[in-house]
Amino acid sequence: MQSRAFWEKRLCALSKEGRLLVELLKLLLLQSDRDSRAIGNSRIVQRDCFDWLQDVPENSIHSVVTDPPYGVKEYEPDQLAKREAGSGGVWRIPPAFDGHVRSPLPRFTALDAAERARLVDYFRRWARLITRVLRPGGHVFIATNSFVAQMVYGAVAEGGLEFRGQVIRLVRTLRGGDRPKNAEVEFEQVSSLPRGCFEPWGLFRKPMLPKMRVSDCLREFETGGLRRCPNGLPFCDVIVSERTPRQERQVASHPSLKPQSLLRQLVFASLPLGTGTVLDPFMGSGSTIAAAEAVGVKGFGVERSAEFFAMAVKAIPKLARLNVPHLPLPAGSNASHHSLFVPEKCAG
Ligand SMILES: C[S@@+](CC[C@H](N)C(=O)[O-])C[C@H]1O[C@@H](n2cnc3c(N)ncnc32)[C@H](O)[C@@H]1O
Repeated sequence: MQSRAFWEKRLCALSKEGRLLVELLKLLLLQSDRDSRAIGNSRIVQRDCFDWLQDVPENSIHSVVTDPPYGVKEYEPDQLAKREAGSGGVWRIPPAFDGHVRSPLPRFTALDAAERARLVDYFRRWARLITRVLRPGGHVFIATNSFVAQMVYGAVAEGGLEFRGQVIRLVRTLRGGDRPKNAEVEFEQVSSLPRGCFEPWGLFRKPMLPKMRVSDCLREFETGGLRRCPNGLPFCDVIVSERTPRQERQVASHPSLKPQSLLRQLVFASLPLGTGTVLDPFMGSGSTIAAAEAVGVKGFGVERSAEFFAMAVKAIPKLARLNVPHLPLPAGSNASHHSLFVPEKCAG
């Protein structure tokens, strides 16, 4: 068997038409990947996204909406086993309150210098792969948190994507607000960290071609801008959100399940003309793909774990069918947002 480098050299020697044909063949091979499944308009695949992205044709994806393993290591098999056992590792049990026992959360303040360097390297490599497969002008929404956001944003920009700001998801996160550990009585008036009331999502864009304007990019690549809300108002970078509702957690018991009410807005905004493919390379139980199905666009999801992939196969159609709560909207919006919360197929 010849090495990858051998084939890459042969490919470079091909004419432009030859290379186009190869990209087309790659696309067809992706569709028939034996570990992949079609669900509605969308397709999901069980693979490591770092490997998978290398097989994806250049400039073929319109947008990315994703919730990665922020601290990189929390979804490694050893850490998931510790979570399951309820002790040790990066997952900690937050304090119980209101009489409820809370699910474990990853503890990102515990990352040491070597782990931080690894995180930066991971997101830089990931962004390089994403930059290659995105169409020029394609947008990326990436979930993060207050502790690691600054590292993730720097690394993603070094990987080739332009930083275009942040989307603030207003939600009480259960992080921070605690009194100093083991000195709670002595320093009763102090919190070590602010109580987390938002989740930052980085917003990035693949650079457009030189001298290209947004209008040119929209015409040529169907990318470059963000889709306005159904009521015609611009997409806002503050989203009043909620913790993932019970009816969704009952469908998919993934530890990082994101709510449909948020993801449907992000997926909708990410495709400016309402056409094209939105990718989630860290799909988990498929909530982004369900959101794509609900708003009537095509999703592509990649998940490494067999367990979460199997969960996604079952969860996507159910999550996509849910009517989700109609949350308060940011200033300037009005109630015609409603159509995002009623899946297309169920509307009416
Ligand atoms: C934060 S979770 C995303 C959960 C998702 N938002 C949901 O609602 O279900 C990140 C997911 O990425 C997966 N993952 C981690 N590394 C991966 C990789 N290299 N390729 C593909 N999936 C990966 C993990 O197994 C985990 O399910």
